[in-house]
Parts: sequence; structure tokens; C-alpha cells
Amino acid sequence: MSFMMPYWHVTGSQNLSNETYKTTPERFMAKTQKMVEEYTVRNEGPRNYPVVRPPAGGDVYMVARPWDFWPIIELEEEMSYPFHLSSMDWQHGFSLQPANINIQIVPKYEHVFTLTPNSSGEFSVICNEYCGIGHHLMIGKIQVVNNSSEISVGHSF
Ligand code: CUA
Repeated sequence: MSFMMPYWHVTGSQNLSNETYKTTPERFMAKTQKMVEEYTVRNEGPRNYPVVRPPAGGDVYMVARPWDFWPIIELEEEMSYPFHLSSMDWQHGFSLQPANINIQIVPKYEHVFTLTPNSSGEFSVICNEYCGIGHHLMIGKIQVVNNSSEISVGHSF
């Protein structure tokens, strides 16, 4: 089995200078909703989740809740994004695979780090903090697109 081993440049994760701010689930969800309303490009998957593509360099919000990460995020390769994470209830883990970025998500705190994906493809976010009966099902998705390859494909979907 072979798989891509991308190197994602991350600053501000917990082994670097993690930034955290006090928040509430309501406040964080409101900011996430606003991003979803402004930048949803399509819906996808069995739950018809919004795929949100914020402008390059724009703020990205992802909610951890029982038992998923919401919404699906689409980013551009080689662009840097302030990435915001919070939990709607109790503690979860944010583990971005296979880049192996791990951040503990503590409720009532907003975690912020800068994410610069430098390979395109589909990446899974899994929860690596035991959070109850649906823990093993708690999976999110980040898609990274490469603008130059989109152009060279020569058609749009
Ligand atoms: Cu959320 Cu385990």
C-alpha cells in the first residue's frame, strides 16, 4: 500500500505557538454559519454537508460535535489560512491525516493556527480523543485543490 505523505506547513499548533481565545459554542457556531452561508460551493456526501471554500487566505471555521466535524472545507494548495476550531460540547481531538497534525479541542476555547496545505487531494480529520459512543465515527474532510491543475483539465464540473 502506498499513500501520499504530504508536508503541510502549520504554525501555531500546540507544539508551536498555539493561540486560544475564550468563546462559547453559540458564538463559534454563529461565525461558522456565516462562513457557510457566504462560501458554500456545493453539497456532498450522505448527509449532504456543505462544502465551503473560503477565499484564499480567509478565515476557516470548523466545528467539532457529536459526532462529526462540520462543514467540509475546500482549500487552495499553497495558500495560508487562519484555521479556527472549537467544540460544541465536550473535548474532542483534531487529527489531520496523513499530515499528522494533532490538536486537542477544548470546549469554550477557540483554537487558531495557520494552515498552509502544500499538496492537493482529500484529507481526513479524525477525532483522537475518546468522546463517547460515536467517537470512532467522528470523521471530517478537507479537500485541497490545485488551481493550476484545474485550469489544465480544460473543463469545469
Ligand atoms: Cu470526538 Cu472522539
